[in-house]
Amino acid sequence: MYCLTFLDCSIHLSDEATMHYPILHSGLLKGDNYGYFVQTGPREVLAVDAPEGRVMLEILKHKSWTLKALLLTHTHHDHVVYLEELLQKTGCAFFHPEGAEVPGGGRGVTDGESFEVNGLRVQALDTSGHSDLDFSYWFPDLDLCFCGDTLFASGCGRMFAGPPERFWASLKRLRELPEATRICCGHDYLGDNLRFVRQTFPNLPVLRSVEGWDVMPLRLAVQRKCNPFLMADDPRIAVSMGLEGADPAMIFKKLRELRNQL
Ligand SMILES: [Fe+2]
Repeated sequence: MYCLTFLDCSIHLSDEATMHYPILHSGLLKGDNYGYFVQTGPREVLAVDAPEGRVMLEILKHKSWTLKALLLTHTHHDHVVYLEELLQKTGCAFFHPEGAEVPGGGRGVTDGESFEVNGLRVQALDTSGHSDLDFSYWFPDLDLCFCGDTLFASGCGRMFAGPPERFWASLKRLRELPEATRICCGHDYLGDNLRFVRQTFPNLPVLRSVEGWDVMPLRLAVQRKCNPFLMADDPRIAVSMGLEGADPAMIFKKLRELRNQL
């Protein structure tokens, strides 16, 4: 017996009324790690990261799904749990950032590279800074982007690697995706992030508007307006922090440091 902790919040991504696929299945897979499956047909799915490979295997079995491919955002331990076992038992295609230390070979993809996974167009984007090698996977035809731990709801990942200029450039890259893009993050720390926003920017109520209570997959259009980590070049943020005229990357760095102290 296993405990199915995966929360199935199916979201239909296709605009075509006659089609039922693809469907995004998302939910907390283990702890605060989000798991994602994109269902491309009645029995076929793609997955992003392996927050708990053995639970993913149980889900695949339970749903009678075949895992066709897995896309890895980065190699932090909580994204590769039983990854090797998952790859071996499913025989799925495996895409990861070129140069990442991963088990099982797979195919390394490079920044800006477009490729096809089970009929879906994907573009790999280097969005490093959280770790030394973070990739996001943008599905332009689905208006969907999986960003690992680079961006969170009203927040961003810890800066384990940096430098701030690189992390800020990565966040800007995500910010520049099309307005309709929905963002799938590796974790959800919305409660703590909103507390941080409330404490840090008491004079900017726009940052904690009702819209800011964004749920996965996040609306990029909302995050652009409510997430201070995407707004380090917004004069209102600089003024609020007493850093008027400072380089946005330095403002981002300061923001991240303040958030670490919460
Ligand atoms: Fe991470």
